[in-house]
Amino acid sequence: MKNFKRYTVTSALPYANGPVHIGHLAGVYVPADIYCRYLRLKGEDVVFIGGSDEHGVPITLRARKEGVSPQDVVDRYHNLIKKSFEDFGISFDIYSRTSNKTHHETAQEFFLTLYNKGELIEKTEEQFYDEVENQFLADRYILGTCPKCGAEDAYGDQCEKCGSSLSPSELINPRSAISGSKPVLKETKHWYLPLDKYEQELRNWILEEHKEWKPNVYGQCKSWLDSGLMPRAVTRDLDWGVPVPLKEAQNKVLYVWFDAPIGYISATKKLTPHWEKYWKDPDTKLVHFIGKDNIVFHCIIFPSMLKHEGSYILPDNVPANEFLNLEGDKISTSRNWAVWLHEYLEEFPGKQDVLRYVLCANAPETKDNDFTWKDFQTRNNSELVAIYGNFVNRALVLTHKYFEGKVPEPKIITEYEYSLKEEVRRIKTAIENNIENYRFREALREAMNISRLGNKYLADTEPWKIFKTDPERVATILYYSIQLCAISTVLTEPFLPFTSKKLLNILNINNINWEETEKFDLIPINHTLNKPELLFEQIDDSTIEKQIEKLLKTKEINQKQVKNIAPQKETINYEDFAKLDLRIGTILEAEKVPKADKLLKLTIDTGLDKRIVVSGIAEFFTPQQIIGQKVCILINLASRKLRGIESQGMILMAKDTDGKLNFVTVNNTCDNGSEVS
Ligand code: MF3
Ligand code: ZN
Repeated sequence: MKNFKRYTVTSALPYANGPVHIGHLAGVYVPADIYCRYLRLKGEDVVFIGGSDEHGVPITLRARKEGVSPQDVVDRYHNLIKKSFEDFGISFDIYSRTSNKTHHETAQEFFLTLYNKGELIEKTEEQFYDEVENQFLADRYILGTCPKCGAEDAYGDQCEKCGSSLSPSELINPRSAISGSKPVLKETKHWYLPLDKYEQELRNWILEEHKEWKPNVYGQCKSWLDSGLMPRAVTRDLDWGVPVPLKEAQNKVLYVWFDAPIGYISATKKLTPHWEKYWKDPDTKLVHFIGKDNIVFHCIIFPSMLKHEGSYILPDNVPANEFLNLEGDKISTSRNWAVWLHEYLEEFPGKQDVLRYVLCANAPETKDNDFTWKDFQTRNNSELVAIYGNFVNRALVLTHKYFEGKVPEPKIITEYEYSLKEEVRRIKTAIENNIENYRFREALREAMNISRLGNKYLADTEPWKIFKTDPERVATILYYSIQLCAISTVLTEPFLPFTSKKLLNILNINNINWEETEKFDLIPINHTLNKPELLFEQIDDSTIEKQIEKLLKTKEINQKQVKNIAPQKETINYEDFAKLDLRIGTILEAEKVPKADKLLKLTIDTGLDKRIVVSGIAEFFTPQQIIGQKVCILINLASRKLRGIESQGMILMAKDTDGKLNFVTVNNTCDNGSEVS
């Protein structure tokens, strides 16, 4: 294996259009953080890069929906995400963002280098255009029926239902995501990365030279390569993004997946003036931590960009994870089916390490995995509390009890103590092997073996039973136990950094580096320890039930929403419809119907006459509110008596998914009596 001089570790830049949840953490940020903390403890030169991905259509769509600017959206979420990562102990060397100037310049320069080298293909093609909004419809701006599975809400770039990647022209019945109108085709010029030309070199690089990549990553790459690569457009007709730095490309921006990974480079530039060695020196190991939906971008597209730009290194590995589910269901931002990091931090103050532990122990490394609150509780109570917390507490309490909190001198050393040393060395090597091969679950299991070992040592030797008869033996046992505590602060630090810090304080010692643990004897005889404190607390049933209840409520809301959208009624023909005489009218008077909570008696100007309609809207509107309101009214409905009042017609109302009624209206210039058809 090659010896690298330094490490550049990147973690996928989350879109700044929503908060971060446990799926992001388990898939990307927890493993990346463990990896970097480990490297730093080994004294390696490492930069850990993070930041917000602030471009792309989901952000502009969200801004539109909320009636704010895209910059407002990304400012809000960038700050929220940055703060919650910090509070959670994700140890980025920089958390940058792609809307800043350095990034725009870096991405433009990158594009221009490719352009000037003649790497990009220029093509004029017809693309979908929304004539209502006067805008081209790129990526998620276009919706339609998926040609593969028939789902009705497939996007122009992907169907989320079946996961197929699509191009807009494949969609059946395409429609604009903004206006809903049927798009037309219009010519536009774009620049393409000729992936088809790079196919052979990609095959060699991935399929031959990187057989060691995780099977899920290697497999996905192979299937992309086997199905043939096509040129990929790297520009878009949009106004939110990095402007294409060409005169002939007015109102065009770089494709978000072109600019975002360059965000890793621009972030490094912001971090250090020596950024180039982290990106251009072949002695640097570049590692991308991502989720499985990002594999093609990090294994095929970005490496092609790096290689053909000419001056950059390629990733050594791309350890992508599968997905984490929540209580058996796919995590979903739109359905609010998630545990949000910022909420967890508020609801479980001081318990960052518990979540870090559970997410790592349960990480979806080889297959999708499930997070459950029950499992969270069990892992806390029967692993963190019962194994790690318990061992440290016993070692410290006993040392205080028998030796006034001073590390005792070991006089007689037996085979058992030699075997402890050996086992610690084995554990250390096992953790190293596992972390260096991106097997973090297994690494964590090994790290916990230090305190498992300690617990077994205390249980086997029972110092509390022999102090009276053999205090010297007890001195040895506690000396060794305290050394195990010190070793644990180092070997568990990548996983449980807050706990390590706490334990260092209790042990009254400074940070120790990774290799020093080989010495085993880390705390000198007679060293004074601080008072023990519990490293972890039990989590009780009521805490867990609260979280489960919160999720049940979400589920209820979601089901109601699904239920409230009524299925389509049976087909009618035009003659049936044409029988309805629908008109525009105005409410002239309104009053409550006595002894009827729901009914209002309305006097309506229909253009033909003024008539009385009794309408069941009193729960939602007061009479004063609706005088002058334009309405749509069915006037040829047979009249009927309601509470003794003759009602001559019916007002059309739209019931929203919350069950609230809204007037079906037209704009105010439409005269009374106008026909609706
Ligand atoms: N924002 C993307 C996502 O959440 C990830 C971007 S990774 C980068 O899926 F490399 F492009 F930055
Ligand atoms: Zn589909």
